[in-house]
Amino acid sequence: MDIKKILSEMTLEEKLAELTQLNANMLGIDAGAAITGPAKAMRLTEAALNSAGSTLNFIGAKVMKEIQKLHLERNPHNIPLLFMQDVIHGYRTIYPIPLAMAATFDPDIYEECCAMAARESAAAGVHVTFGPMVDLVRDARWGRVMESAGEDPYLGSIMARAQVRGFQRGNKDDRQNVSACVKHFAAYGAAEAGRDYNTVDMSDHTLREYYLPAYRAAIDEGVDMVMTSFNLYNGVPAAGNKYLVKHILRDEWGFDKVIISDYSSFSQMKKHGYLETDKECARESLLTTTDIEMMSSEYLTYAKELIEEGSIKIEDIDASVMRVLELKEKLGLFENPYRSASEEDEEKLFLSKEHRDICRRAAEKSAVLLKNDGVLPFSADIKSIAVIGPLAKRGMIGFWSCAGREDEAVSVYQGIASLIGEEKIVYAEGCSSKLRAKPDRDMISEAVKAAKSAEAVVLCLGEEREMSGEGNSRVDISLPEAQVALIRAVAEANPKTAVLLYTGRPLALTDIVDDAPAIFTVWQPGSEGGSAAANLIFGKASFEGRLPMSFPYHSGQCPIYYNRMNTGRPRPKEFEPTPYTSCYLDYPNRPLFKFGYGLTYTEFEMTPVKLSADTMKAGEKITATVTVKNIGEREGVAMPELYIRDVYASVTRPVQELRGYKKISLLPGESSEVSFDITEDMLRFHTADGSYASEAGLFHVFVEDSAEVGTPVSFRLI
Ligand code: BGC
Repeated sequence: MDIKKILSEMTLEEKLAELTQLNANMLGIDAGAAITGPAKAMRLTEAALNSAGSTLNFIGAKVMKEIQKLHLERNPHNIPLLFMQDVIHGYRTIYPIPLAMAATFDPDIYEECCAMAARESAAAGVHVTFGPMVDLVRDARWGRVMESAGEDPYLGSIMARAQVRGFQRGNKDDRQNVSACVKHFAAYGAAEAGRDYNTVDMSDHTLREYYLPAYRAAIDEGVDMVMTSFNLYNGVPAAGNKYLVKHILRDEWGFDKVIISDYSSFSQMKKHGYLETDKECARESLLTTTDIEMMSSEYLTYAKELIEEGSIKIEDIDASVMRVLELKEKLGLFENPYRSASEEDEEKLFLSKEHRDICRRAAEKSAVLLKNDGVLPFSADIKSIAVIGPLAKRGMIGFWSCAGREDEAVSVYQGIASLIGEEKIVYAEGCSSKLRAKPDRDMISEAVKAAKSAEAVVLCLGEEREMSGEGNSRVDISLPEAQVALIRAVAEANPKTAVLLYTGRPLALTDIVDDAPAIFTVWQPGSEGGSAAANLIFGKASFEGRLPMSFPYHSGQCPIYYNRMNTGRPRPKEFEPTPYTSCYLDYPNRPLFKFGYGLTYTEFEMTPVKLSADTMKAGEKITATVTVKNIGEREGVAMPELYIRDVYASVTRPVQELRGYKKISLLPGESSEVSFDITEDMLRFHTADGSYASEAGLFHVFVEDSAEVGTPVSFRLI
């Protein structure tokens, strides 16, 4: 298709409409999906509606085909619509939330999950998914932490790449893939106090060193689109932030594909107190080179005037339209505007055995065992088990679950029933699942009775779907009072009690950690959550997940992250405050459960790390080696983690930074030598003079089974 020719034939209004993205339900057909974000009166003419370039929020191939057909009949140049959707952790078959996927530390399973989601999405008529979300998050109060890979830029970058590969790779001939859109550019995850849409304020150093790498990784992996964010950076909303979008993304990084705004974020610049009029919003957004405007009509309404006045060039509008047409061409829409949309494929793929199997494996790998006083796994010969809790019979698919349905997801109750037989289960609800629920005496006594009558107990508690996700921030990230009371009572009634936690964020578990004999999190595990949990509980699968984020003792410790600075007065003793040092009087500085932590059903012994040399020159490498031995009675996955500290530098460096990890499966008694190469490029950072380079000097190396433990060995870069 000659897209240059199409462009040359388009009127200015058609071009501006091409850059406008509208909710699918505005395009003349009921699109079925819930609309996200506040829709507003948009001053749209019929001509603009007919020429809109892209759409979001629709459900399914049938609707997609109807909308596309109607659009092609009306569009003066036969330009097909681009269909976009938030496919964040699955389309209809739902895999664990992104935070859980980060806990797998396994990019291969993540890629497989995204490829699965891409197949289903393509069949449903989706062309672009609004993912991966790669915002770095240090504050678990933020509801959108569930969409992220947590607090570490190294892990975040690995997981960003895995998602882009999975979504975009597909099978090109069958077009069973989608374009990915990395978001939210930039630093949205640093919303102050974890409150969604709140102010972000950080130094350029912090932005570049910690927050930008994951977006950059997605771009290096070939992501097709970038979405800007809702937050301020340096006092300027990202939607109109020329430094972030034009300077860094376009000019420095050379990103020449499509950039889209977030939902109505252009016009929100007025509410931010940055711009007074919609026309100014249009001008500032255009000057960033953002191509598509999501669910507002500033370009459509004001760009003509801005061009006439000379503040915007028609060439820049043309460049944006070209980028959108190029994406349509790349996706093959000019050859086949319906692309892979197919009701038959939907039927074949949605919740297929193959897709459910992928989700189950992902859910097993992402679960993290936090505490186990010899309680788990339960024996497969168990005679009776109490399954207690308001979430035990629910399919827990989590926020942003697209076309997924709770009633199609396996609950823990169902998972256990199909593994050992429903007749062995006694069930009690125990409490309400609501955030502010108070303990209910009758419900607790029924639960205690059930617990006493059974050999062992699984308590299914934690966060409901709406307790995390967009707009769902919390001040207090401990468990609701009703749940704490239930755990205490049930654990006292039956010492073989395991607490299974659903959560979209790290929780502060101090209230229950001493009472509950075993605790594990399955996050929001998706369509096969219950079968994965049952396999883990009965030892048919083993825990191998590790925390991608610190679990604090108390919400008041947030933001909390392992790769922090040492301060000039570091705390000498973790559990006792020392006057005039950087500490709290009432809590330790460290979290209750550390980044990189996770138990297994076996135990490992690791030798102290050895370095192959104690000096290194640029161009050389040194090797850090440990030997890991399985000293327990079951097979398990060990994960030695390499952390490095640059002890003195022109800009202060964190006390530890993850620079590598390896997952190895070991049989009982088996041992394995694990080595990490350390090269000069791994020591680079944004230095005081603005370059990205390493600096000679002292480095500490840790190889441990979590962050914030162990004694380092040293080398010098000379
Ligand atoms: C969210 C984006 C999302 C968009 C479209 C916004 O409210 O911030 O992440 O992609 O809605 O649904």
